[in-house]
Amino acid sequence: LVTKMYAVFVSVGVFVFANGYVNVALNKPAYQQYQIPWHTYDASNAVDGLKSDLRYVGGQCAVSYSKQTSTWWVNLTTIHSIHHIIIYFITSNNPWGPSNYFTKYPLGFSVYVSNTTDRLQGTLCYKDDNFRLDTIPAVFTTTCPVHGQYVIYYNERILNVSYPDEYSYSVASFLCEVEVYGCPATGCYGSNNTLPCPDVNCQYCHIETGTCQDCQPGYQGYRCELACDKGKYGSECSKTCGYCRDVKQCSNINGTCLTGCDPDYQGDLCKTPTLKAQKYTFLGDILYHSTDRRASSVTILHNLS
Ligand SMILES: *[C@@H]1O[C@H](CO)[C@@H](O)[C@H](O)[C@H]1NC(C)=O
Ligand SMILES: *[C@@H]1O[C@H](CO)[C@@H](O)[C@H](O)[C@H]1NC(C)=O
Ligand SMILES: *[C@@H]1O[C@H](CO)[C@@H](O)[C@H](O)[C@H]1NC(C)=O
Ligand SMILES: *[C@@H]1O[C@H](CO)[C@@H](O)[C@H](O)[C@H]1NC(C)=O
Ligand SMILES: *[C@@H]1O[C@H](CO)[C@@H](O)[C@H](O)[C@H]1NC(C)=O
Repeated sequence: LVTKMYAVFVSVGVFVFANGYVNVALNKPAYQQYQIPWHTYDASNAVDGLKSDLRYVGGQCAVSYSKQTSTWWVNLTTIHSIHHIIIYFITSNNPWGPSNYFTKYPLGFSVYVSNTTDRLQGTLCYKDDNFRLDTIPAVFTTTCPVHGQYVIYYNERILNVSYPDEYSYSVASFLCEVEVYGCPATGCYGSNNTLPCPDVNCQYCHIETGTCQDCQPGYQGYRCELACDKGKYGSECSKTCGYCRDVKQCSNINGTCLTGCDPDYQGDLCKTPTLKAQKYTFLGDILYHSTDRRASSVTILHNLS
């Protein structure tokens, strides 16, 4: 009984929680491979917010030509904090399952979240290896708490691969709606998705817990509480400051030398040698490689200046 009560508590909790998310895919640009050239079948129909008519000719679903592969994606336009994704398949408004013509098409599908349109550069949220005609749901939900810009639906029927008999011979999008629930902005969390990430210098935090996952450029540390080490700057403190007059005055955020450059360097980042310095370097190279090694190149350069 205790376990049961706990289960009820948890599912109610999740339900309330899920209600706080926003569908960030709504009316965003969508694309599909092998698009049929009629608006009735547009990729964007799967993000139009309409899912009352689940027929492929109803104008509310994305439909592609049936081929060996099928790819559909939505561009969230910036990196978003995603919590879960809901997919409504085309059912023709008929009972789903073995008797429905469309049920065999999504079998084996996968869902990715990526920062590019290349699914393989992203995170695999779900790959169907188990569903059968009588178990695949007509409305599929997967939790995928990652950050990304593209949500990609993919399926394939490769000639070489042997599939269960009940799989279709080819695949198509056949998607009535793809809802991507998450934060309306990048750095937020909480049931309302309105709380900014708790750590001030955090760029992305876990959508449920608020734990920081990526610091803003210029910061490091578990809670992004530390500026980059002196001489370093930028995203993940991975960039090296130029020749600042005072390396302590190199901006940890963008590498600007706030009190100017070493005499031989110029530019905001003090990474460009001055013309004079370039000439000297050039002369120095010539002298170094010349046969006359008796005179030190330093002395000669000094005399030249
Ligand atoms: C996705 O949307 C962004 C913002 O509108 C745009 O800059 C980018 O080119 C789009 N990506 C593709 C592949 O169209
Ligand atoms: C997308 O980029 C952000 C920021 O660099 C990163 O935190 C996130 O993990 C990336 N998402 C994927 C799916 O690779
Ligand atoms: C089919 O299998 C053969 C041998 O395993 C392989 O060389 C070939 O690339 C495969 N073709 C495809 C389309 O996967
Ligand atoms: C959720 O957001 C609304 C406004 O959008 C606000 O009135 C409400 O207090 C918030 N609830 C919580 C628990 O933060
Ligand atoms: C670089 O960052 C500093 C603060 O560290 C700021 O004052 C300056 O305006 C920034 N420069 C640019 C070009 O964004």
